[in-house]
Amino acid sequence: MESMGELKRSHTCNDLRADHIDQEITLMGWVLRRRDHGGVIFIDLRDRWGISQIVFNPEFNSEAHAKAHALRSEWVIAVRGKVTPRPEGMVNKNLKTGEIEVMISELRILNASLTPPFPLDEDIEVSENLRLQYRYLDLRRPGMADNLIMRHKACQALRTFLNDENFLEIETPVLTRSTPEGARDYLVPSRVNAGKFYALPQSPQLFKQLLMVAGMDRYYQIVKCFRDEDLRADRQPEFTQVDMELSFITEEDIYRIAEGVMTSLFAATKAMELQTPFPRMTYAEAMERYGCDKPDTRFGLELINLTEVVKGCGFQVFRTVVEKGGQVKSINAKGCATFSRKDLDDLTGYVGNFGAKGLAWVKVKEDGEWQSPIAKFFTEAERAAMATTLDAQPGDLLFFVADNAVVVRSALAELRLELARRLKLIDKNTFNFLWVTDFPLLEYDHEQKRHTAVHHPFTAPVEEDMDLLETDPGKVRSRAYDLVLNGTEIGGGSLRIHQKTVQDRVFNALGIAPEEAADKFAFLLKALELGAPPHGGIAFGLDRLMMIIAGRDTIRDVIAFPKTQKATCPLTDAPAGVARKQLTELHLRPDWQ
Ligand code: AMO
Ligand code: AMP
Repeated sequence: MESMGELKRSHTCNDLRADHIDQEITLMGWVLRRRDHGGVIFIDLRDRWGISQIVFNPEFNSEAHAKAHALRSEWVIAVRGKVTPRPEGMVNKNLKTGEIEVMISELRILNASLTPPFPLDEDIEVSENLRLQYRYLDLRRPGMADNLIMRHKACQALRTFLNDENFLEIETPVLTRSTPEGARDYLVPSRVNAGKFYALPQSPQLFKQLLMVAGMDRYYQIVKCFRDEDLRADRQPEFTQVDMELSFITEEDIYRIAEGVMTSLFAATKAMELQTPFPRMTYAEAMERYGCDKPDTRFGLELINLTEVVKGCGFQVFRTVVEKGGQVKSINAKGCATFSRKDLDDLTGYVGNFGAKGLAWVKVKEDGEWQSPIAKFFTEAERAAMATTLDAQPGDLLFFVADNAVVVRSALAELRLELARRLKLIDKNTFNFLWVTDFPLLEYDHEQKRHTAVHHPFTAPVEEDMDLLETDPGKVRSRAYDLVLNGTEIGGGSLRIHQKTVQDRVFNALGIAPEEAADKFAFLLKALELGAPPHGGIAFGLDRLMMIIAGRDTIRDVIAFPKTQKATCPLTDAPAGVARKQLTELHLRPDWQ
């Protein structure tokens, strides 16, 4: 192997154009492809910026040419040479450097490479485990590198925006106490304090509130958060939030700032101008029309409530469900009467995964008649009333689910998404933002037999609902909001409780005894009594946002070193066992060794 010696890189592999012709230049990078054409060797040389074609011609320089025979994929080289125009007909319009090539007069081999375990051409499908094991090779692939570059640009843009809006970037601790976002904590045993543990923060929630008490007024941080939860395509055990908090503000101020963040981010990454203000919808309306609190509004297929229309009808399943206080809701899949029996069976199986006991369907024939296993149970008048409510036209396919409200909405929300995927109704180039507002403050947890916080216990209740805290806590609305983009929750926040008396009442409604609250959150409660200003904030899931912007299906594709669905890292083999001595030092006596 050789050294770079006195060679200095003069250009990147994406710089050279026709106006560099005849210049002497120096490039450094990786051998992407090598082609031997009757004595002349062509190499695509790659670096982070792009690709340049370099040429080893024995007539131009026989020594460099002789050496170039050894080159293989992913070898690292430095070359010196002269920029020349590509011969007639050889110009590559798909490449920024496609007008030129570089005739090499000197080659230095800086490092060899084993044959990579997978080819690095973007269009070749490789198992994700292998990609994660050799992530540094995976990231050399142009598409993956682009994701990281785009993520960097997004961070730059939002920092610029927030700095201009007078925010301070302040770091908060990673070794801390359990925070209240409701997932399981990652714990770190303390060596110097036997039997005590730090928790990694699920978010900087309490610290950012304390920064408001400290008078910082506007805080932000691009920050790692840790949650030990079941992983999915859009969930990682450690993920990044764009976290912020502001003082002396209302919801409107936060919406404006958040929309500004999104606008600057989309301008920087996609050169796209977003329409603001973003549309808003209450939680109640989202649940009624879409069956979920993060509706994808890029397509219709809304849920239609038939409970009133079918009550007392001839179909026993529907009648009984309504009598028991349940619901019957429907989706009109316009023009889908051509679905096959198999399609219908598949969809019935699909909604079964979400608790539905069946999926009744009706195909509306050309003459308006119903083709359906349940048609016979309804009178003509009942069918007409249902058809009117559903706006049923010939060619339509109507789906019905009858059950309690929770099952109906989750089954139909999932059916709606599945139909949209099958019917290809989702346009990847549309970006639909939606504020979901007026969340309930609390929800009843049947397992724990008590109310729990829908967001977290520091969320402010709506003033006029405050008296319900003691009488009908489930009815209290919160001053919380989520930002949804194309059916993914990309952010959430709230105005916070800043008065101790209100915090005590909410803890009480949550069934958290004063001693328990004092034990867990004494520092926050004390701060509320020492001049806490009105404040609120929001946190965006940066990984989810980047996934959507990059048009990827998993957040792993926009994270440099992500974990698998099993929370492992195939590259470093984390998590890993440790020596008994280390455990002893941490005062841990495991029973698995
Ligand atoms: P929340 O828990 O809603 O709010 O988190 C904010 C946003 O973070 C993203 N997110 C995740 N992304 C990837 N993997 C995960 N495991 C994961 N969990 C959450 C989501 C979510 O909208 N402290 C509050 C914010 C506040 O009230 O200001 C909080 O953490 O996009
Ligand atoms: P059955 O009378 O049980 O054969 O059901 C007739 C049709 O109603 C079938 O297509 C079932 O899938 C459907 N069905 C049964 N239970 C429900 C339910 N709870 N909600 C919607 N459809 C149902």
